Amino acid sequence: MRILVTGGAGYIGSHTCLELLSAGHEVVVLDNLSNASAESLRRVEQLAGRPLPLQVLDLLDAPGVGRLFAEQRFEAVIHFAGLKAVGESVAQPLRYFQNNVAGTLVLLQCMQQYGVKRLVFSSSATVYGDPARVPVTEDLPLSATNPYGRSKLHIEEMCRDLARSDPSWRIALLRYFNPVGAHPSGRLGEDPRGVPNNLMPYLLHVATGRQPHLKVFGNDWPTPDGTGVRDYIHVVDLAKGHVAAVAKLESLDGCVALNLGTGKGISVLQMVAALSAACGRPLPYRFEPRRPGDVATTWADPSKAKQLLGWSAERGLEDMCADGWRWAEQNPNGY
Ligand code: WQD
Repeated sequence: MRILVTGGAGYIGSHTCLELLSAGHEVVVLDNLSNASAESLRRVEQLAGRPLPLQVLDLLDAPGVGRLFAEQRFEAVIHFAGLKAVGESVAQPLRYFQNNVAGTLVLLQCMQQYGVKRLVFSSSATVYGDPARVPVTEDLPLSATNPYGRSKLHIEEMCRDLARSDPSWRIALLRYFNPVGAHPSGRLGEDPRGVPNNLMPYLLHVATGRQPHLKVFGNDWPTPDGTGVRDYIHVVDLAKGHVAAVAKLESLDGCVALNLGTGKGISVLQMVAALSAACGRPLPYRFEPRRPGDVATTWADPSKAKQLLGWSAERGLEDMCADGWRWAEQNPNGY
């Protein structure tokens, strides 16, 4: 298929473009490069041995996005583009709603105008807020605890309303748990601007000496070792989940939400130990107070994705850490 990937120069986007090209799809990337490097796309082309054209565009440039759809016949869209820093969203809610929600509205309007009614959307487990129970299933109540999560929830609701208004739409809302790791080549990986907010990239900064130690946000959580438990999923598994979603879009019933996780919970200290083993030395950490907005425990029930997409995560914690470390060691300053 001929697929437009918005935000395709980013961490999950670039890994997904590689899997799409390897599966034989034609891919065009739309990205404003505000939080990504075009170098990632050059490396994807080298790895795939196929072209990956980039249109440097902002989704808020409605005329520009319209021209792209008028010129190129896309059959489906995978939509990653958006801001995603939880803390930043609390400080700048309107910027998050404009970029994420208004930007998506422009995209959906263009898709509707040009008859492109196949969408895979990059949603997030954050739409479950503090989940009512674990493992998390797609029928749990939805809530947001920050503007970033609320922007994802608003976009999901827009997609559900759109599919209800026109049953010819096929939309997969993929709710990611915690993406980590990197392509095993060491050529692609996560390259956050500034000081990382998330655990794995911060730990990798400790491993490469860019940070002195990890701050562990709370060791008094109601968990086996007192530290937060999450469902970490290898970014290559996540990317393959998008290829599976594109392949199965026609068979979905309108707009369907799907958890992409491993179904296993890993604590902060377990992640520290695993990455220490991967990089061959103990990574220093200190306990700090809990981070506002954090929850104790969450992990996915991924059985619906297995049933509807024929997809499940295959890579374990050891792969996540070995591949993440290889990327950081070979690219200590990112792209
Ligand atoms: C994981 C665990 C922290 C950093 C967020 C977003 C979510 C999704 C994934 C986009 C927690 C602990 C972390 C650190 C720590 N992003 N931690 N020290 O908060 O589960 O999810 O990223 O969709 O939407 O909410 O991920 O990696 O920030 O935290 O102790 O320096 O690591 O307390 O227990 P989180 P995280």
